[in-house]
Amino acid sequence: MSTVFIVGGSGQVAKHVAKQLQPSDWSVHALYRSESQEQELKALGATPVWGDITTLSVDELAQLFQGSDHIIFSAGAGGKGDETLTNKVDGEGLTKSVLAAQQANISHFILVSAFPEAGRTAALGDKFENYIRVKKYSEYELTQSALNWVILRPGQLTDASGTGQVKVGYALPSGNNPISREDVAATLLALLKQPKIHHKIIELTQGDTAVEHALEEFI
Ligand SMILES: NC(=O)c1ccc[n+]([C@@H]2O[C@H](COP(=O)([O-])OP(=O)(O)OC[C@H]3O[C@@H](n4cnc5c(N)ncnc54)[C@H](OP(=O)(O)O)[C@@H]3O)[C@@H](O)[C@H]2O)c1
Repeated sequence: MSTVFIVGGSGQVAKHVAKQLQPSDWSVHALYRSESQEQELKALGATPVWGDITTLSVDELAQLFQGSDHIIFSAGAGGKGDETLTNKVDGEGLTKSVLAAQQANISHFILVSAFPEAGRTAALGDKFENYIRVKKYSEYELTQSALNWVILRPGQLTDASGTGQVKVGYALPSGNNPISREDVAATLLALLKQPKIHHKIIELTQGDTAVEHALEEFI
């Protein structure tokens, strides 16, 4: 049995991960912060773990991580809202999670990040620019750690049904680059099951290659 701990476990991508990992010999520990999410996570077969990333200390987070084999960080404050929250969740939350993973001796760490150059043809506004800055700095911090990290940069997330067909690359042209959350989750599953892939920054959009084949070039 392998256990993956998802920071941002109540998020939409994370819930697809939990759904797609059931039934299997994987267990999902999902960080959540609002009581209403507890039953939904249980119904998906996940183990809900209560905590707010903005107030948890590194030690407390490491205790919650203890016993897990993999970490997925998929938390985010939404990007377009309060910059302070983006800094605390997407930024400091990632920093704490990296330190906590090291403290809990968990080496495999997957960060759900974002296309750094998305929407560059438009004026994005200060909040979105801050979001991209924070995501980029979080990536940098993770790459400086001793962890076996993977950074997955999905394009524009959609709620369309997954097709199982994606395009991946070290750097994909940005522009109209949608990817369904369901397919982001399928790609995360493939990465979880292929720990030989690490120290890679992978961009992801919808495409025409089956997820499991698409990642072969990164092994
Ligand atoms: N939207 C896009 O087009 C796009 C594109 C590329 C990458 N991304 C990134 O992809 C990731 C996953 O996307 P998604 O659609 O699954 O996002 P989502 O549904 O908004 O999930 C975000 C998760 O972060 C959690 N979170 C926020 N503040 C928190 C806090 N203080 N403590 C603990 N957890 C907290 C949320 O918990 P609550 O449910 O309690 O709020 C939720 O579980 C995000 O990091 C996002 O930045 C998004």
